Amino acid sequence: MRKKIVAGNWKMNILPSKTNELINLLMSANTDKIDVVYCTPFVDLHTAISSTKNTNIKIGAQNAHFEDKGAYTGEISFDMLNDIGVSYCIIGHSERRTYFNDTDECINKKLIKAFDKNITPILCVGENLELRNTGTYKDFIKNQLVSDLKTISKEKIASMVIAYEPIWAIGTGLAATSDQAEEICSFIRSCIKELYDADTAENIRIQYGGSVNGSNAKELFSKPNIDGGLIGGASLKEDFLKIVEAAL
Ligand code: PGA
Repeated sequence: MRKKIVAGNWKMNILPSKTNELINLLMSANTDKIDVVYCTPFVDLHTAISSTKNTNIKIGAQNAHFEDKGAYTGEISFDMLNDIGVSYCIIGHSERRTYFNDTDECINKKLIKAFDKNITPILCVGENLELRNTGTYKDFIKNQLVSDLKTISKEKIASMVIAYEPIWAIGTGLAATSDQAEEICSFIRSCIKELYDADTAENIRIQYGGSVNGSNAKELFSKPNIDGGLIGGASLKEDFLKIVEAAL
């Protein structure tokens, strides 16, 4: 049985001085049976880590650089994240791919480094509306997986999380239907089986992300291949607690 995982992606929201307030609002998240993660902006990480210290809530970053250290002005390394107690890192979110030119090659390097530094990656894949409409989205997602996971061993990927995030559903209020989400989460699992083996595919956790809220989460999480969600907008308010409940 795979343990469900619900992760909040705070994106570039919540000032460091407001981090405690949001963490306190969400403190009652039920972590008995599932993993709950808050992926905060870099400058909020420290506060988020100390205010969740005596809980099972884990803290994640939203990006990091693949080099260990050196002259990379403005970047943060996985070593740095590990050093302050970060457990997870979102890698390859579509906003990074689109606005910051994170290519599959660079995402692959980031994944390799995350595993090296004991940070659990949440790898995001997913198609835009055009690919959905032309019906080529499965090929596209498979290519993303093949390139992003290149040379990474099955022992390593067993611990990672993959998030299926159709770009057309992110921040639009137009979530994929549970059948659409299940179709691709199950397809991603079959790609992992093909690239690795049946055991690895069975054990890897696959989330759905894109306009998940307290009302649609239960239906989405009831599908056999959806092991939780990556939540943007709704992770910044109390509604997030309903999403966590839906995963129990
Ligand atoms: P959303 O974002 O829940 O606001 O659609 C999801 C994400 O981008 O991870």
